[in-house]
Amino acid sequence: MRIIIFLGLFSLIVNGVGFGDPDEVKSVSVTEGHSVTLHTDVVKQRDEKIVWYYGSENTFVARINGKASSTMLSDDEMFRDRVKMNDQTGDLTITHITSQHSGLYTLKISSNNKVSYKRFNVTVHSEVKSVPVREGHSVILYTHVLEERDLIEWHYGPDNTLVATIDGKANSFMFSDDERFRGRVKMDDQTGALMINDTRSHHSGLYKISINNRVYKRFNVTVSGEYL
Ligand SMILES: *[C@@H]1O[C@H](CO)[C@@H](O)[C@H](O)[C@H]1NC(C)=O
Ligand SMILES: *[C@@H]1O[C@H](CO)[C@@H](O)[C@H](O)[C@H]1NC(C)=O
Ligand SMILES: *[C@@H]1O[C@H](CO)[C@@H](O)[C@H](O)[C@H]1NC(C)=O
Repeated sequence: MRIIIFLGLFSLIVNGVGFGDPDEVKSVSVTEGHSVTLHTDVVKQRDEKIVWYYGSENTFVARINGKASSTMLSDDEMFRDRVKMNDQTGDLTITHITSQHSGLYTLKISSNNKVSYKRFNVTVHSEVKSVPVREGHSVILYTHVLEERDLIEWHYGPDNTLVATIDGKANSFMFSDDERFRGRVKMDDQTGALMINDTRSHHSGLYKISINNRVYKRFNVTVSGEYL
Protein backbone atom coordinates (compact mmCIF):
# COMPACT_ATOMS: atom_id res chain seq x y z
CA MET A 1 0.00 0.00 0.00
CA ARG A 2 2.74 2.39 0.96
CA ILE A 3 4.64 1.55 -2.24
CA ILE A 4 1.63 2.28 -4.43
CA ILE A 5 1.15 5.69 -2.86
CA PHE A 6 4.84 6.40 -3.30
CA LEU A 7 4.74 5.45 -7.01
CA GLY A 8 1.66 7.57 -7.53
CA LEU A 9 3.39 10.58 -6.10
CA PHE A 10 6.48 9.89 -8.15
CA SER A 11 4.58 9.84 -11.46
CA LEU A 12 2.82 13.05 -10.44
CA ILE A 13 6.19 14.75 -9.98
CA VAL A 14 7.48 13.45 -13.31
CA ASN A 15 4.37 14.72 -15.07
CA GLY A 16 4.78 18.08 -13.36
CA VAL A 17 8.29 18.45 -14.72
CA GLY A 18 7.24 17.53 -18.23
CA PHE A 19 4.03 18.75 -19.76
CA GLY A 20 1.46 16.19 -18.71
CA ASP A 21 -0.31 14.77 -21.71
CA PRO A 22 1.80 15.36 -24.82
CA ASP A 23 -1.32 15.18 -27.02
CA GLU A 24 -3.02 17.97 -25.13
CA VAL A 25 -3.74 21.05 -27.23
CA LYS A 26 -4.63 24.29 -25.54
CA SER A 27 -7.29 26.29 -27.39
CA VAL A 28 -6.80 30.03 -27.69
CA SER A 29 -9.32 32.33 -29.27
CA VAL A 30 -8.52 35.86 -30.43
CA THR A 31 -10.21 38.62 -32.41
CA GLU A 32 -8.70 39.84 -35.68
CA GLY A 33 -6.53 42.94 -35.16
CA HIS A 34 -5.93 42.20 -31.48
CA SER A 35 -2.90 40.70 -29.72
CA VAL A 36 -2.54 37.30 -28.16
CA THR A 37 0.04 35.92 -25.72
CA LEU A 38 0.76 32.21 -25.58
CA HIS A 39 2.00 31.39 -22.10
CA THR A 40 4.64 28.74 -21.54
CA ASP A 41 3.69 28.54 -17.83
CA VAL A 42 7.36 28.09 -16.99
CA VAL A 43 10.19 30.29 -15.79
CA LYS A 44 13.15 29.71 -18.04
CA GLN A 45 16.08 27.92 -16.45
CA ARG A 46 19.59 28.92 -17.41
CA ASP A 47 20.36 26.02 -19.69
CA GLU A 48 16.94 25.83 -21.31
CA LYS A 49 16.26 26.68 -24.90
CA ILE A 50 12.69 27.67 -25.79
CA VAL A 51 11.50 27.58 -29.40
CA TRP A 52 8.13 28.35 -30.97
CA TYR A 53 7.02 26.82 -34.26
CA TYR A 54 3.94 27.35 -36.39
CA GLY A 55 1.83 24.99 -38.46
CA SER A 56 2.33 21.53 -39.85
CA GLU A 57 5.56 22.61 -41.55
CA ASN A 58 6.95 23.75 -38.20
CA THR A 59 7.82 27.23 -39.44
CA PHE A 60 10.22 28.90 -37.03
CA VAL A 61 8.58 31.76 -35.12
CA ALA A 62 10.84 32.68 -32.19
CA ARG A 63 13.41 31.25 -29.84
CA ILE A 64 15.41 32.04 -26.78
CA ASN A 65 18.78 30.41 -26.24
CA GLY A 66 20.19 28.68 -23.23
CA LYS A 67 22.85 30.54 -21.32
CA ALA A 68 23.11 33.69 -23.41
CA SER A 69 19.36 34.30 -23.03
CA SER A 70 19.26 36.00 -26.39
CA THR A 71 16.04 35.97 -28.35
CA MET A 72 15.72 35.52 -32.07
CA LEU A 73 12.52 36.30 -33.96
CA SER A 74 11.23 35.06 -37.29
CA ASP A 75 12.06 36.95 -40.44
CA ASP A 76 9.15 35.25 -42.20
CA GLU A 77 6.78 37.82 -43.71
CA MET A 78 3.91 36.38 -41.72
CA PHE A 79 5.56 37.04 -38.35
CA ARG A 80 8.08 39.80 -39.01
CA ASP A 81 7.55 42.86 -36.72
CA ARG A 82 4.57 41.09 -35.20
CA VAL A 83 6.01 38.78 -32.57
CA LYS A 84 7.62 39.39 -29.21
CA MET A 85 9.10 36.93 -26.78
CA ASN A 86 9.39 37.33 -23.03
CA ASP A 87 13.01 36.57 -22.11
CA GLN A 88 12.11 35.30 -18.61
CA THR A 89 9.28 32.95 -19.50
CA GLY A 90 9.50 32.49 -23.27
CA ASP A 91 5.87 33.63 -23.62
CA LEU A 92 5.07 34.47 -27.24
CA THR A 93 3.01 37.55 -28.12
CA ILE A 94 1.58 38.03 -31.59
CA THR A 95 0.30 41.52 -32.31
CA HIS A 96 -2.10 42.77 -35.03
CA ILE A 97 -3.25 39.22 -35.60
CA THR A 98 -4.95 38.28 -38.87
CA SER A 99 -6.87 35.16 -39.89
CA GLN A 100 -3.75 33.72 -41.49
CA HIS A 101 -2.23 33.35 -38.00
CA SER A 102 -4.87 30.76 -37.10
CA GLY A 103 -3.48 27.30 -36.52
CA LEU A 104 -1.28 25.17 -34.39
CA TYR A 105 1.70 26.59 -32.49
CA THR A 106 4.23 24.22 -30.96
CA LEU A 107 6.38 25.14 -28.00
CA LYS A 108 9.58 23.17 -27.51
CA ILE A 109 11.59 23.47 -24.32
CA SER A 110 14.89 21.69 -24.28
CA SER A 111 17.81 21.44 -21.91
CA ASN A 112 20.77 19.08 -21.74
CA ASN A 113 18.78 16.09 -20.59
CA LYS A 114 15.14 16.62 -21.52
CA VAL A 115 12.83 17.92 -24.20
CA SER A 116 9.18 18.78 -23.71
CA TYR A 117 6.46 20.07 -25.98
CA LYS A 118 3.24 21.96 -25.62
CA ARG A 119 0.73 22.83 -28.31
CA PHE A 120 -1.68 25.71 -28.78
CA ASN A 121 -4.54 25.89 -31.24
CA VAL A 122 -5.09 29.54 -32.10
CA THR A 123 -8.42 30.52 -33.67
CA VAL A 124 -8.75 34.04 -35.06
CA HIS A 125 -12.27 35.42 -35.25
CA SER A 126 -13.12 38.26 -37.53
CA GLU A 127 -14.92 41.17 -36.02
CA VAL A 128 -17.05 43.76 -37.75
CA LYS A 129 -17.30 46.95 -35.81
CA SER A 130 -20.61 48.81 -36.21
CA VAL A 131 -20.26 52.53 -36.75
CA PRO A 132 -23.47 54.55 -36.92
CA VAL A 133 -23.26 58.11 -38.23
CA ARG A 134 -25.79 60.84 -39.01
CA GLU A 135 -25.90 61.97 -42.60
CA GLY A 136 -23.86 65.14 -43.14
CA HIS A 137 -21.60 64.42 -40.18
CA SER A 138 -18.07 63.13 -40.40
CA VAL A 139 -16.96 59.74 -39.21
CA ILE A 140 -13.58 58.40 -38.11
CA LEU A 141 -12.75 54.72 -38.37
CA TYR A 142 -10.21 54.25 -35.60
CA THR A 143 -7.34 51.81 -35.78
CA HIS A 144 -4.08 51.39 -33.93
CA VAL A 145 -1.53 50.72 -36.61
CA LEU A 146 1.32 52.13 -34.61
CA GLU A 147 4.33 50.50 -36.17
CA GLU A 148 5.74 51.57 -39.51
CA ARG A 149 4.11 49.45 -42.14
CA ASP A 150 4.88 48.91 -45.75
CA LEU A 151 1.42 49.33 -47.15
CA ILE A 152 -1.84 50.30 -45.48
CA GLU A 153 -5.02 50.33 -47.55
CA TRP A 154 -8.67 51.11 -46.96
CA HIS A 155 -11.22 49.40 -49.18
CA TYR A 156 -14.95 49.94 -49.38
CA GLY A 157 -17.95 47.86 -50.32
CA PRO A 158 -18.52 44.71 -52.30
CA ASP A 159 -16.40 45.99 -55.20
CA ASN A 160 -13.44 46.63 -52.89
CA THR A 161 -13.15 50.23 -54.04
CA LEU A 162 -9.80 51.60 -52.92
CA VAL A 163 -10.51 54.58 -50.66
CA ALA A 164 -7.08 55.54 -49.32
CA THR A 165 -3.55 54.20 -49.12
CA ILE A 166 -0.36 54.92 -47.23
CA ASP A 167 2.75 53.45 -48.69
CA GLY A 168 5.12 53.48 -45.73
CA LYS A 169 8.16 52.73 -47.87
CA ALA A 170 7.53 55.55 -50.32
CA ASN A 171 6.12 57.70 -47.52
CA SER A 172 3.19 58.62 -49.75
CA PHE A 173 -0.58 58.95 -49.44
CA MET A 174 -3.10 58.23 -52.14
CA PHE A 175 -6.81 58.96 -52.06
CA SER A 176 -9.60 57.52 -54.13
CA ASP A 177 -10.70 59.16 -57.31
CA ASP A 178 -14.14 57.58 -56.85
CA GLU A 179 -16.66 60.45 -56.83
CA ARG A 180 -18.23 59.27 -53.56
CA PHE A 181 -14.93 59.78 -51.77
CA ARG A 182 -13.10 62.45 -53.76
CA GLY A 183 -12.09 65.40 -51.52
CA ARG A 184 -13.88 63.85 -48.55
CA VAL A 185 -11.39 61.47 -47.01
CA LYS A 186 -8.34 61.91 -44.90
CA MET A 187 -6.05 59.42 -43.25
CA ASP A 188 -4.01 59.75 -40.08
CA ASP A 189 -0.41 58.90 -40.94
CA GLN A 190 0.34 57.78 -37.36
CA THR A 191 -2.60 55.49 -36.68
CA GLY A 192 -3.98 54.72 -40.13
CA ALA A 193 -7.43 55.97 -39.04
CA LEU A 194 -9.75 56.99 -41.87
CA MET A 195 -11.90 60.11 -41.75
CA ILE A 196 -14.84 60.64 -44.08
CA ASN A 197 -16.38 64.11 -44.13
CA ASP A 198 -19.93 65.10 -44.96
CA THR A 199 -21.27 61.55 -45.10
CA ARG A 200 -24.13 60.50 -47.38
CA SER A 201 -26.19 57.35 -47.45
CA HIS A 202 -23.99 56.02 -50.24
CA HIS A 203 -21.11 55.87 -47.74
CA SER A 204 -22.91 53.12 -45.80
CA GLY A 205 -21.33 49.71 -45.97
CA LEU A 206 -18.31 47.68 -45.15
CA TYR A 207 -14.83 49.24 -44.87
CA LYS A 208 -11.73 47.13 -44.53
CA ILE A 209 -8.24 48.19 -43.56
CA SER A 210 -5.43 45.93 -44.64
CA ILE A 211 -1.74 45.87 -43.89
CA ASN A 212 0.47 44.48 -46.61
CA ASN A 213 -2.58 43.07 -48.41
CA ARG A 214 -4.00 41.29 -45.38
CA VAL A 215 -7.26 42.36 -43.81
CA TYR A 216 -6.63 43.76 -40.38
CA LYS A 217 -9.99 45.19 -39.32
CA ARG A 218 -13.55 45.69 -40.64
CA PHE A 219 -16.09 48.43 -40.00
CA ASN A 220 -19.76 48.49 -40.90
CA VAL A 221 -20.75 52.11 -41.39
CA THR A 222 -24.44 52.98 -41.34
CA VAL A 223 -25.34 56.52 -42.41
CA SER A 224 -28.80 57.49 -41.26
CA GLY A 225 -31.12 60.46 -40.88
CA GLU A 226 -31.77 63.48 -42.97
CA TYR A 227 -29.19 65.99 -43.97
CA LEU A 228 -30.50 69.43 -43.00
C1 LIG B 1 -8.37 23.90 -33.58
O1 LIG B 1 -9.58 24.60 -33.32
C2 LIG B 1 -10.47 24.60 -34.41
C3 LIG B 1 -11.65 25.49 -34.06
O2 LIG B 1 -12.11 25.27 -32.77
C4 LIG B 1 -10.89 23.15 -34.69
O3 LIG B 1 -11.77 23.12 -35.78
C5 LIG B 1 -9.64 22.33 -35.01
O4 LIG B 1 -9.98 20.99 -35.19
C6 LIG B 1 -8.63 22.44 -33.87
N1 LIG B 1 -7.40 21.76 -34.27
C7 LIG B 1 -6.69 21.00 -33.44
C8 LIG B 1 -5.46 20.38 -33.99
O5 LIG B 1 -7.01 20.84 -32.27
C1 LIG C 1 -12.81 67.14 -42.87
O1 LIG C 1 -13.26 68.01 -41.86
C2 LIG C 1 -12.29 68.34 -40.87
C3 LIG C 1 -12.99 69.17 -39.81
O2 LIG C 1 -13.86 70.11 -40.36
C4 LIG C 1 -11.12 69.04 -41.52
O3 LIG C 1 -10.12 69.31 -40.56
C5 LIG C 1 -10.53 68.13 -42.61
O4 LIG C 1 -9.49 68.80 -43.30
C6 LIG C 1 -11.60 67.73 -43.60
N1 LIG C 1 -11.04 66.75 -44.50
C7 LIG C 1 -11.22 66.80 -45.84
C8 LIG C 1 -10.57 65.71 -46.62
O5 LIG C 1 -11.90 67.62 -46.37
C1 LIG D 1 -24.18 46.41 -41.26
O1 LIG D 1 -25.15 47.05 -40.45
C2 LIG D 1 -26.45 47.02 -41.03
C3 LIG D 1 -27.39 47.86 -40.17
O2 LIG D 1 -27.23 47.59 -38.81
C4 LIG D 1 -26.92 45.58 -41.15
O3 LIG D 1 -28.19 45.52 -41.74
C5 LIG D 1 -25.93 44.80 -42.01
O4 LIG D 1 -26.27 43.45 -42.06
C6 LIG D 1 -24.52 44.93 -41.45
N1 LIG D 1 -23.57 44.32 -42.37
C7 LIG D 1 -22.52 43.59 -41.98
C8 LIG D 1 -21.65 43.04 -43.05
O5 LIG D 1 -22.28 43.38 -40.80
